[in-house]
Order: sequence, then structure tokens, then C-alpha cells
Amino acid sequence: MQLISGTAVAEKVLEECRRDIAALAAAGMKPGLAVVLVGDDPASRAYVRSKDKKCRDLGLHSVKHELPATTSQAELLALVHELNADPAIHGILVQSPPPPHIDEAAIVRAIDPAKDVDGFHPVNVAKLALEDPAGFVPCTPLGCQRLLMDAGIETRGAEVVVLGRSMIVGKPMALLLMAKGPGGDATVTVAHSRTRDLAAVTRRADILIAAIGRPEFVRAEHVREGAVVIDVGINRVPAPETAKGSKLVGDVAFAEVAPKCRAITPVPGGVGPMTIAMLMANTVKACRQLQAGAVLE
Ligand code: GUN
Repeated sequence: MQLISGTAVAEKVLEECRRDIAALAAAGMKPGLAVVLVGDDPASRAYVRSKDKKCRDLGLHSVKHELPATTSQAELLALVHELNADPAIHGILVQSPPPPHIDEAAIVRAIDPAKDVDGFHPVNVAKLALEDPAGFVPCTPLGCQRLLMDAGIETRGAEVVVLGRSMIVGKPMALLLMAKGPGGDATVTVAHSRTRDLAAVTRRADILIAAIGRPEFVRAEHVREGAVVIDVGINRVPAPETAKGSKLVGDVAFAEVAPKCRAITPVPGGVGPMTIAMLMANTVKACRQLQAGAVLE
């Protein structure tokens, strides 16, 4: 059984970013990312802090906006418009989910698609479906694809089952894996909570991507002997035996699934670090594309 280390592959991606950032610096450019958090959800706050810290480690320009839960739709839209117009900002990320009074879809549509490093804007969703390489692909599925490629796992012709149909992971993951070319060319099935005889479907998979958002949902019965399993879940669960009283687990019951696998990602240290690394890569790409666009104008 091969343990796929997201920490190690993320470091490779970040090394590529450092090289690209140095090349941009030589041309007088510094990629800038703005991260916006509304409200005080502790998990979201932790993600936003780690994104900001990683930017600073890489020498990117980073701006963090932590807004109170009472922020209005109009105030948030005004901030997005300000960031769209700011030439020092190349990437904009509004942490999801926002508080319930915010119309998230309207906020996403307000972000300049050229700065939408999350890949959530309808223009970027369309570009992914159209296989346009200039578009932005959501960071988590992009990270999963890179993990598979780096681990030498062939997707071409493979049966892949994506468990979960979210806009952030499941749907873009399926589009990436069915696209033509390296890291794609797979036969993709998207399964979810309403799928009939789910275990029979997931057992068909050569590669199973678990993104259903339920702690340790995937059990040994869901997995074929010799399958590759990518665990996208990050769930905090009570663990009275630990000092902290809680721990992180994935969407996969690792202890019983891992012995059946050809390869599997751990939680933590699997997909998580890849998501942040791909966000940095998308921000560098946004800077490069905006710079090229400015030269052409
Ligand atoms: N919430 C969970 N994952 C993500 C992500 O990739 N981007 C944003 N903006 N919010 C998230």
C-alpha cells in the first residue's frame, strides 16, 4: 500500500510557485491575493489564516479582510468591487460558506473572472467544461488531480467514481478527470447521497474520490481490492482520548480501508495541503495572465 503524501507534493508545487514568483519579480510584478472572511466560524478562520500565512512565506502580497457576521450584502459587494479595481490584487477569494443572509452566488458573480482564483464564477465553470486552459479550476479538485499524476496513477481509461456532487469539489473533479489529456481521459461516475446501491457503484472504481463531507463514511465494503482512494474530507470529530478533545478525520474510515488499497491519501497531510498550494499556483497564474493582458491592451 502506497501512502500518497500531500505534504510532499504540495512542497513541490510551492517550489514551482517560488520559481515563477522570482521570474515575475524580475519583471517588476508581485502576485497579490485578497482573502475575505465574513463571520467567525472557527474552521473558516483557521483556513483563512493558513492561506494568508502561506502567501507571506512565498513572498506574495497578501491582504486579509476579516469582516463581522453582521456585514451586509451591499458592504461585501462594495469590497469585492474595490478588490476588482485594485491593480495590486490578482486573486480574490471569499471564504465559503458565508452567513445565511449573504447571497453567495451574487457575490461570486461580482468577482472579476480574471481574479477568480477559486474558479467558482460561472465564466470559469464554463471554461472548465469547455477545456479552456486560461480558466481557473477550483483548488481542491486541481490538487487531487495533481496528487494522482505525481503518484504515477494513470487516469486514462480508468473507472473513477467521484463520491459527492458539490460545486467546490465533486462537479469540477468529474469535469477535470473526463477532460482530454494527461490527468484526464477517465470514465467518470458521480455518486452521491441519493445513489441507489452506493457500495456497488463505488466498488467499481479503480480510483475513488471521497468528497461527501461525512466523517469516515467510506468503509471497507465501498472499496475494491487494489483501488486508489483520495480522501477529500476534513471533519473535526470529538475525541475525548486526545488532549484537545477533538481530532480531524477524513470521509474515509482509514484503518479499515487502507489495507485494501493500492494507494491512499491520509487526513491530515493529504488533500488539505494541496488545496492551499493550488491556490498559490492559481494566484501566480492570475498575475501572469493579467500582466499579459495589460501588455496586449
Ligand atoms: N470553503 C471550503 N473550501 C473552499 C475553497 O476552496 N474556497 C473558498 N472560497 N471557500 C471554501
